[in-house]
Amino acid sequence: MTGPEPPPSAITVREAEPRDAAGIANVHVESWRAAYAGLVPQALLDRLSVDRRLTLWAQRLREPGETRTFVADDRGRIVGFAGTARPDDPEHPPGTAELETIYLAPDMWHRGVGRKLMARSLEDLAGRGFASVFLWVLTGNERGRHFYEAGGWRPDGRVQMLNFDGTPIEEMRYRLELATA
Ligand SMILES: CC(C)(COP(=O)(O)OP(=O)(O)OC[C@H]1O[C@@H](n2cnc3c(N)ncnc32)[C@H](O)[C@@H]1OP(=O)(O)O)[C@@H](O)C(=O)NCCC(=O)NCCS
Repeated sequence: MTGPEPPPSAITVREAEPRDAAGIANVHVESWRAAYAGLVPQALLDRLSVDRRLTLWAQRLREPGETRTFVADDRGRIVGFAGTARPDDPEHPPGTAELETIYLAPDMWHRGVGRKLMARSLEDLAGRGFASVFLWVLTGNERGRHFYEAGGWRPDGRVQMLNFDGTPIEEMRYRLELATA
């Protein structure tokens, strides 16, 4: 194969429904295992549980509150998702949102699906009046950082250490200003 394939035309991006919880949980675990191998301890990746994620996602989709979740749906198979939220930390002024998650099944990487999910999530935030959005990404996640930077996101200077099974791992905060109507 030469170069990235275009997104499969059958893929639609839509708001998630409670029945998507299992598909989302599957992608979440598969994507973590593939993207973070070598970045976070393997034992932690081995322990990830689709069932545990399913419980969390089912609850979130039943009671979304200020969260929004979009899925990429390939004829009934969930192949990716993105989630946003209004952060409750007073550090963030009103009008700030967080992109909490964006994960694709590994066989869908680099085919333009992430870009579609991102566009939909940002359009939703801008439409609801958010002016700024931030996210955290592992500093070692080069694929993720390249994707964000191509979309106009920039590091805002904040870094923090996460503790994965006793291993300290750095993540960086990125920010994007949104054009509001
Ligand atoms: C990170 C991830 C969501 C990106 O999605 P993707 O579908 O693979 O990415 P896309 O194919 O949409 O985008 C990649 C290409 O489009 C470009 N691109 C993306 N958005 C763009 C934009 N708004 N404008 C211009 N170019 C853009 C990127 O530069 C890249 O091009 P290149 O690598 O050929 O130079 C996906 O790879 C993934 O799930 N990775 C594993 C999980 C992960 O790390 N998630 C992030 C956690 S913080």
